[in-house]
Amino acid sequence: AAIDLGPYRHFMQKEIHEQPRAIADTLEGALQGPFSLQDLWGQEARERLGHVERVLFLASGTSHYASLVGRQWVETIAGIPAHAELGHEYRYRDSIPNPNQLIVTLSQSGETLDTWEALRRAKDLGHEETLSICNVAESAIPRASALRFITRAGPEIGVASTKAFTTQLVALYLLALSLAILRGRLDDASLAQHLEHLRELPGGVQQALNLEPQIQLWAQRFADKDHALFLGRGLHYPIALEGALKLKEISYIHAEAYPAGELKHGPLALVDQHMPVVVIAPNDRLLEKLAANMQEVRARGGELYVFADLDSHFEAAAGIHVIRLPRYAGLLSPVLHAIPVQLLAYHAALVKGTDVDRPRNLAKAVTVE
Ligand code: G6P
Repeated sequence: AAIDLGPYRHFMQKEIHEQPRAIADTLEGALQGPFSLQDLWGQEARERLGHVERVLFLASGTSHYASLVGRQWVETIAGIPAHAELGHEYRYRDSIPNPNQLIVTLSQSGETLDTWEALRRAKDLGHEETLSICNVAESAIPRASALRFITRAGPEIGVASTKAFTTQLVALYLLALSLAILRGRLDDASLAQHLEHLRELPGGVQQALNLEPQIQLWAQRFADKDHALFLGRGLHYPIALEGALKLKEISYIHAEAYPAGELKHGPLALVDQHMPVVVIAPNDRLLEKLAANMQEVRARGGELYVFADLDSHFEAAAGIHVIRLPRYAGLLSPVLHAIPVQLLAYHAALVKGTDVDRPRNLAKAVTVE
């Protein structure tokens, strides 16, 4: 059935703006009654997740970047070692199977061949505990998995993934909580607090969306650039990766992302007044380190575009532009910071006049190798 664009110019824009609703629906579907592992992941959740002592995430593209956030949440919240790999890399390398390793695939479409083949390879190696986080219930990857969580983003049409990404993050957070409960690391009061923070997400995402006019102004300054650098640290390094990917995909501006601590080991050589540098800078414990990295950029003439939040203690100055998101959202902060990098890419593409929903050479779901 045809999906109406409503007041929007592109599906990508519509899907960006649907995120408060997509996240709220995903949460509502998951948390109808009291927190239940069976309701979230399936009947066999307890026996399949109870003995897990390692987690391996397999995915491609934007879904892989979601898993890079998810692996950190699993380690922080559940205290279980977690790794993330691209499906096409895992598939062809020698790896050491472990019956207590949970294989988690992430895929918007559920049909990405690289991810599906990686799941097959994991199963061939003897892994039985498989879990899929997917936006399409009747698709290949969740069907081939023992446990599954279906995000409720609704159909995503724009080739560049947006609402699927943020709802995957919600599912990943619920996974980290679930594993923490099974390990006895989360009492009822802490669980209730985590769930409350999740329920505040749609409101926070809406506040981030309200920054669109300011981001639009920044986008005009990006559109004539050939290159851009995205920096983040820790939980926000994957958001920098996602911002760079979005900009490449739809505006065709070459963009690279680095964890900010790595600047001095190479990318700093590229920085001059022609290189805009986007910094994901929430008020977390890495902010001071990040501020030092920003000075390194400024000292070489690089112009900084900083996504801070209300609590970050630094101000705009010559060559330093600052947009403030709502209050620092703690562990869930990457969900909020995903929004402005989507909007920046979207508006840069609009200025350049590219085909936002169908960028050249790319497909929505890649079902070939
Ligand atoms: C394609 C799309 C990307 C997407 C990736 C993974 O490359 O263009 O936007 O992130 O596939 O897709 P999946 O459906 O597995 O999440």
